[in-house]
Amino acid sequence: MKMMTKGFASAMALTIGLSAAAKAEDVEVLHWWTSGGEAAALNVLKEDLASKGIGWVDMPVAGGGGEAAMTALRARVTAGDPPTAVQMLGFDIQDWAAEGALGNLDEVAAAEGWDNVIPGALQRFSKYDGHWIAAPVNVHSTNWVWINKAALDATGLGEPTNFDELVAVLDKMKEAGITPIAHGGQPWQDATVFDALVLAEGTDFYKSAFIDLDPAALGGEKMADAFTKLIKLRSYFDPNFSGRDWNLASAMVINGEAGMQFMGDWAKGEFLKAGKVPGTDFVCIRFPGTQGAVTFNSDQFAMFNVQGDAKKAAQAAMASAIESPTFQSAFNVVKGSVPARTDVPDTDFDDCGKKGIKDLAEANTAGTLFGSMAHGHAAPAAVKNATYDVITAAVNGEYADGAAAAKALADAVAAAQ
Ligand code: BGC
Repeated sequence: MKMMTKGFASAMALTIGLSAAAKAEDVEVLHWWTSGGEAAALNVLKEDLASKGIGWVDMPVAGGGGEAAMTALRARVTAGDPPTAVQMLGFDIQDWAAEGALGNLDEVAAAEGWDNVIPGALQRFSKYDGHWIAAPVNVHSTNWVWINKAALDATGLGEPTNFDELVAVLDKMKEAGITPIAHGGQPWQDATVFDALVLAEGTDFYKSAFIDLDPAALGGEKMADAFTKLIKLRSYFDPNFSGRDWNLASAMVINGEAGMQFMGDWAKGEFLKAGKVPGTDFVCIRFPGTQGAVTFNSDQFAMFNVQGDAKKAAQAAMASAIESPTFQSAFNVVKGSVPARTDVPDTDFDDCGKKGIKDLAEANTAGTLFGSMAHGHAAPAAVKNATYDVITAAVNGEYADGAAAAKALADAVAAAQ
């Protein structure tokens, strides 16, 4: 009872302190949510903060996966003027914390019991040296396929459950005169597809190769097979894939110009924004051969070490708003992701969202939930970028075969460590 009273009193003090200070300070937020679906989700956040008296200063840096945003961030921090809050992924958060650049959210985290409701897989990135440094907004996963329903029905085939069935569906789509795979040829998108191909080689293999960075796995036969399959998939892209933004690839599936896209569930945000309904207009399935396993990434707002109590209070107020269960539901329903807390009901989510929530929980229990290499949750940026180079070179036909690509990957990862 004594404990509860103390906890309640400190939560009250925090709330009073925050609301008074938040009025005085805006939050400047650096992010890369610039596509239609992303902007719609961002609006949910902006409006939620506005309702709590927290003003928003926007710093958008376009570019899926966030590479350009991270370059812009480095320039701001070097100039001694970090933004208040920054959208960030996995190992990047830890790297900034190691540089001593991040602030501290322990007070709000303790008052709201984040330790008990945010999954350990996310806390591994939201905490540094035992202290909360970032507020997770969501959990995305990368091993999804988004299929135009009419295009799938026209093949007369069912949803593909393994690579051979996938190829059969792609061949039928090609015969029907549509682009089978909508792809955007940018390194992070190439890597997003490759995440799924590596996972399809087996969950133990994904872990050995991409989490443990085992040279034998990176350069071995299964990796060669994953590259061979990547090169095969490349033959189903249209000639204009190079450099295409991911949301334009989603649009090709939405309007029936293409059959399917391999992409994280932020793609669903584009389908929803276009008024499309899962099960009716489009189908979401796990990448063939990865059912039961999930590669995830989580957008978190890392809080920089800003000066002044009012700014710090605004950071805490923003973090508190983000972790509220009602916000977690409202935002993630629009974004295509699933909540970053385990206690948010799936009631308001569509069928793909409900599946995403269930898959994540099951993979977590089964030990088949892994950080995405493509999205910075498997290895630090130097290793991630080394994998990008080899994967993109493979997509561009620079290796004689899958085995040569696998060897190049093992060498590149070794050099990056
Ligand atoms: C982020 C998503 C974002 C996607 C495309 C991913 O790295 O986690 O929130 O929608 O990139 O921009």
